[in-house]
Amino acid sequence: MSGFSIVGSGRYLPGRPYTNDDLARVMDTSDEWIRQRTGIEQRHYCPSGQGVSDLAYEASIKAIDSAGLKPTDLDYILFNTMTPDHLFPGSGPLLGARLGLNGVPALDLRAQCAAMLFSFQVADSLLQSGAAKRILIVGAEAHSGFMPWLDWDILEGTNKAAPSAEAWERATRHRGLAIIFGDGAGALIVERSTAPGVGILSMDLHSDGDLVDELLIPVGFRSRPYVSEQCLAEDLIIPRMQGREVFKHAVSKLPQSVRAAVEKAGMTLDDVDWFVGHQANDRINSLVRDRLRLPHEKVPTNIAKYGNTSAATIPILVDEMRRDGRLKAGQTVCYFGLGAGMHWGATVVRT
Ligand code: ACO
Repeated sequence: MSGFSIVGSGRYLPGRPYTNDDLARVMDTSDEWIRQRTGIEQRHYCPSGQGVSDLAYEASIKAIDSAGLKPTDLDYILFNTMTPDHLFPGSGPLLGARLGLNGVPALDLRAQCAAMLFSFQVADSLLQSGAAKRILIVGAEAHSGFMPWLDWDILEGTNKAAPSAEAWERATRHRGLAIIFGDGAGALIVERSTAPGVGILSMDLHSDGDLVDELLIPVGFRSRPYVSEQCLAEDLIIPRMQGREVFKHAVSKLPQSVRAAVEKAGMTLDDVDWFVGHQANDRINSLVRDRLRLPHEKVPTNIAKYGNTSAATIPILVDEMRRDGRLKAGQTVCYFGLGAGMHWGATVVRT
């Protein structure tokens, strides 16, 4: 028992929601297809010029307020994103500076949609070792930067023209990917708790780089220069996703990991109050739920409103559940998720 406790939370969704019909203005897709295949109804995109450190700042301020703290009460930042403001440095120091925490250690983690699970383990170790007393864990994503269209005015409906045939074909080529992602940020504040029974009860984490080709942005520092006209012509700046393969891994690995984490905690599935999963596709979480025979009401979902916000998803959902009173002190939560890397896992936490 570690004594890890969530004492504050916040979320930020930028701008207005964009519906599936908005997306159908720039590529060959439909509201019906997206709802049926993913459960997504809308998602948010941040405006050009805004990045994850900006989104994270808004979520962090809310988390700090909700805990009744001031920024200077925090002594460590863990920043999770796969869409950083810059290729380097990480976005943690930028967030720290915006919060007035210059000099406070800020570490970026890169475990994509499984990020929160890995961050929980790192945060728990920092708290146990005494290296930190109160940690801000943030997940933030600005996926809009890799969306496969330039005609934002057509998407937004301010320009009634049709996209060029070339632009339409390009966006349609990437439509499986483009429809699932949205922007947002979620922040949690964790500290060491002395309350009896509270903390991380078990962890079951995995990574497998042999699966990297199933989801990645191909551009990178193996090439000289790392971005070239050829990269742009071949769209290597847009994620390549083998959607069906990722889906198959998710619906087999996640139930295994949830079972393993619950067993390691010395519990049964019935002992767990909530199964809070990453939201990549509602069909994934429905299948995980069915394979484990979990009651519908124990597996919360919010993908319809936000799409897949990668590292931001779990803290956004936790914030919703804390604020609407679903998540109560003393409850046991199993968090689970899988993402590019490939990274996946589950953890059981008593709140
Ligand atoms: N609109 C209309 N038709 C579409 C769309 C779309 N947006 N996308 C794909 N299609 C078509 C395809 O072209 C294909 O047509 P065809 O049969 O004529 O060739 C058909 O629909 C089926 O395509 P699939 O790619 O097999 O569709 P699938 O049902 O697998 O859904 C999806 C695609 C939504 C991407 C799904 O595979 C999925 O959710 N995979 C998991 C994604 C995931 O978890 N990613 C991890 C993110 S986490 C992270 O780390 C970032």
